[in-house]
Amino acid sequence: MMPKLIDGRAIAERVYAELRDEIVSLKSRGATPGLAVVLVGDDPPSRAYVRAKDKTCRELGLHSVKLELSATTTQAELLARVDELNRDEKIHGILVQSPPPPQIDEAAIIRALDPRKDVDGFHPLNVAKLALEDDTGFVPCTPLGCLRLLRETGIALSGANVVVLGRSMIVGKPMALLLMRKGIDATVTVIHSRTRNISESCRRADVIIAAIGRPHFVRTEFVREGATVIDVGINRVEDAGSERGYKLVGDVDFESVSKLAGAITPVPGGVGPMTIAMLMSNTIKACRQITSFQATKSG
Ligand code: GUN
Repeated sequence: MMPKLIDGRAIAERVYAELRDEIVSLKSRGATPGLAVVLVGDDPPSRAYVRAKDKTCRELGLHSVKLELSATTTQAELLARVDELNRDEKIHGILVQSPPPPQIDEAAIIRALDPRKDVDGFHPLNVAKLALEDDTGFVPCTPLGCLRLLRETGIALSGANVVVLGRSMIVGKPMALLLMRKGIDATVTVIHSRTRNISESCRRADVIIAAIGRPHFVRTEFVREGATVIDVGINRVEDAGSERGYKLVGDVDFESVSKLAGAITPVPGGVGPMTIAMLMSNTIKACRQITSFQATKSG
């Protein structure tokens, strides 16, 4: 069986087509959505993600601020920058790239964000709103992107067994909360490092969402024939044959699992582009909510 390849780049383009209408509508009423992305330090993958977010903002005509702070930035300095952005009327969304350097207390930085501008959905108020199924909150971009990929691919979720591998605050936990919401109605199993018989649980899944950050962790013995596999992992592994010296691989062993899966995302080109598309979508939602403008039909 040839699996259906889930093309994250193509689906992200569909999202951008909807968002462009929304942006035109907001601009016609004098509001340009603005996003500030803050990078502390010079972790190479984080730098690449921040660059991609800034570039997409500019391509869509959003107001974009990229703050690159030194690796020795103190907690007080970062809090002061967050406070400035909270008060900046041109900024509707703020994202502090994770992970920050060790001297930064990330939880305290997240709590300092204005929750109305927390487009990452990491602030405790937004975490609570997700659990409470309150649509005024922000859902973290990667799980939101995974859900959109599943929907656009026509994967049935109501009553489906979905296994989420990983329990991080960025992906695993919000993914599980999102999937079990009323109206989505999946039956969710969350698997983590202490789970017993991982492959057996995974084989019962209609949908597997792999977000554990371990290259090629999901192999054929984890996957029932015809299951859908969403690979959130972006792992850099050494590759002497490549000019950069590394290549990007997912948490799923794509080569073998793709022979068995009903539908599967590639890495790169699967979840990654959707995460950025959902960040843009959350920024536009923040602008709408802060300025009290109503959504157009696609919003
Ligand atoms: N690092 C990896 N993914 C993310 C994300 O979605 N948001 C932030 N702020 N940092 C990240």
